[in-house]
Amino acid sequence: MQPMLNIAVRAAHAAGDYISRQVNNIPNLEIEQKSPNDFVTHVDRQAEQRIIETLLKAFPDHSILAEESGQQGDSEYQWIIDPLDGTTNFLHGFPHFAVSIALVHNGKMEQAVIYDPMKQELFTASKGAGATLNNRRIRVTRPVSIQGALLGTGFPFRAKQHLPAFQSMFADFFMQAGDIRRAGSAALDLAYVAAGRLDAYWEIGLKPWDMAAGALIIREAGGLVGDFSGNENYLETGNIVAGNPRIFADLIRKLQPHLSSDLKA
Ligand code: IPD
Ligand code: CA
Ligand code: CA
Repeated sequence: MQPMLNIAVRAAHAAGDYISRQVNNIPNLEIEQKSPNDFVTHVDRQAEQRIIETLLKAFPDHSILAEESGQQGDSEYQWIIDPLDGTTNFLHGFPHFAVSIALVHNGKMEQAVIYDPMKQELFTASKGAGATLNNRRIRVTRPVSIQGALLGTGFPFRAKQHLPAFQSMFADFFMQAGDIRRAGSAALDLAYVAAGRLDAYWEIGLKPWDMAAGALIIREAGGLVGDFSGNENYLETGNIVAGNPRIFADLIRKLQPHLSSDLKA
């Protein structure tokens, strides 16, 4: 395994093992609200500290962009970290959440790890070397169109101004797709696209740490990832579409009539 990926895996295990030990302690956690429907506990913060310590011990000069502690350092290597993606699920003991870690080098995504500590599933990718789940190669689904497909999405529960646009996309896709899931962890749901468990995924208003690792894992599993125009700017716009190449093109085309002016960027 690539040495930088190896360290990222070690960091993801350190955080994930800690998070899974805290599951029995959820009723005692002090919950803070960062903004409407955006909660955090010391579990998110402690998990993040474990990740950062592990990464900086191995690579003291690298920089960090992490959900709970923000930006630190300045380097051509930047780690993008979501220590606990799916906090709402975690707080309800709903076992679908993950640790997400990506390494960007000079603006290009190079390494990615998503770890589900409840199922002990480790998704990884190194640029140009494919994607794996627990060391076995994974691929996106064979080219299917939206007809009969299983899609994943996220509801805009923290940005409810997007509800009308979301409802109109949802209604259109739902009439054509086989079914749609909202499992509650964008990072893990993207890993599921890479593993062929979902045919495609879309969501409005994500943050870079929700998407970075999942995007590389999907690409290395043969899928495509883009913003709502099908371009590369999903980390900036926060709006993401991902899936096997055929459904990706299909969804981008079908999204266009539903985009309000603020989602067209
Ligand atoms: C959230 C989850 C959720 C998605 C939100 C994210 P968090 O991340 O990925 O599924 O719908 O947009 O912000 O806050 O649990 O790390
Ligand atoms: Ca997140
Ligand atoms: Ca988080």
